[in-house]
Amino acid sequence: MVVSAHPEASRIGMEILRKGGNAYDATVATQFALAVAFPVAGNIGGGGFLVYRDHNGQTGTLDYREKAPAAASETMYQDSAGNVIEGLSTDGHLAAGVPGSVDGMVKLHQKLGKLPWAVLVQPAIDLAKQGVVLTEKEAQYLNNTKEAFLRNNKHIPYLAREQAWQAGDTLRHPELAQTLERIRDNGREGFYAGQTADLIAREMERGGGIITKQDLQNYNATWREPIMGKYKGYKVISMGPPSSGGIALVQLLTMMEPYDLGKYGWQSAKSVQLMTEAERRVYADRATYLGDPDFVQTPVQQLLDEAYLKSRMATVDLAKATPSASVKAGALPMHESDQTTHFSIVDQYGNAVSVTTTLNGAYGSKVMVEGAGFLLNNEMDDFSVKPGVPNMFGLVGGKANAIAPNKRMLSSMTPTILEKDGKLYMVVGTPGGSTIITSVFQAILNVVEHGMTMQQAVAAPRFHHQWLPDEIQHEPEAIPADVRAILISKGYKLEERSPYGRVDAILVLPNGKLEAGADPRGDDAAAGF
Ligand code: GLY
Repeated sequence: MVVSAHPEASRIGMEILRKGGNAYDATVATQFALAVAFPVAGNIGGGGFLVYRDHNGQTGTLDYREKAPAAASETMYQDSAGNVIEGLSTDGHLAAGVPGSVDGMVKLHQKLGKLPWAVLVQPAIDLAKQGVVLTEKEAQYLNNTKEAFLRNNKHIPYLAREQAWQAGDTLRHPELAQTLERIRDNGREGFYAGQTADLIAREMERGGGIITKQDLQNYNATWREPIMGKYKGYKVISMGPPSSGGIALVQLLTMMEPYDLGKYGWQSAKSVQLMTEAERRVYADRATYLGDPDFVQTPVQQLLDEAYLKSRMATVDLAKATPSASVKAGALPMHESDQTTHFSIVDQYGNAVSVTTTLNGAYGSKVMVEGAGFLLNNEMDDFSVKPGVPNMFGLVGGKANAIAPNKRMLSSMTPTILEKDGKLYMVVGTPGGSTIITSVFQAILNVVEHGMTMQQAVAAPRFHHQWLPDEIQHEPEAIPADVRAILISKGYKLEERSPYGRVDAILVLPNGKLEAGADPRGDDAAAGF
């Protein structure tokens, strides 16, 4: 089964499984298919994280997060007076980190793939040539971004055609097809060297960017140890730094373990309050301690220590909200945009893969590499552009996440796998910037504590607290009116926000069948056999 943000990508992944490919093969095919079918977040010009568990229970994670170019510096988004220049880390050529997706897929295939590389890339090439029929949402995304595409490119990218896009239009990607052909034929070199590298370097020169051919050549995706945790008999396998996702998720679950959330009830005042207080404390830690482990010491064991987490919850007073200002003074947390994408795969052999991949913002930096047909990320904004100064989402980060040459920016992506009784139980993840962690947290609790099906769990309305701003952000139906009234009386501030996240998950049922959860907030779809 494959569950992703686009029906064509899920279909392509599933067809690879039908051909006898394994979950890792299907991952490669789905990642490339999303770059074609879902350009708002699917990518070859971005990066991501992957968590796997094989049929023997062996686990691992792959970090193919973008890196800062070698010429990047801590103050690169500031003027001579030290003021942050608005938009520089979010739009245009300087916003792009060195892409990691292609090297990630190559490394995955080398280690765990079964079918030939070309067989896995070909379906995306075919799709790019034949085109993808736009849904209402996709047409809208493209039209909303037209001005930004024109502003951030010297040429007119094909995504910004003159007349508005309509649902039912076919979007073809001929130049992207050619780039994918080079990747099919030359693997890593098809992107990080030769014509594609030339086109990226030329694009950088044209737009004042700093990614060089040397940066491309130097890029390396990295296998890392997973973050492991447990929750009431379930084993949690998730992504470690440079993503904050796995540590934060395991912290949250450990903090909830002493409580009987199932008995308190879904979205009861007590459940919402306990989850909120845990989130507030976890996001404060995230802001202060986490960054690229190749550059800063990340105190993983200390952050996951049960006694430490118990002491954090000991300060919760259920009679009233804890003000965020009293949780930790000083450094504030990171925040990332909503436009990322997640897919979950389980194959017929029992292997499972959980992948979250991103350009960061919608369509990334909006820079389309001329002649190569793909967009570059704006992942540099996930760094703290200046300590104490808010980023594009109104939040700031700490020293651990300052910009440095070749460093990876901190992420919230939380691709996760759960085991129960030593067997595969759930594959889960989502886009949603800083809300990724709390969305995965709720999807897990919805199944494990509240007895929902996987589909109900991903569709259920969600809420979120990230320490600062000190408010519970919630989808319209997420918290019943009477519970909202109780929370307000205890000093919580509630802020309604539009729907967020697209959790795509797979649950292994007791009879061994797979149940998909495809988030109805998007065009997400499952395909399986
Ligand atoms: N750019 C979204 C994230 O990495 O969390």
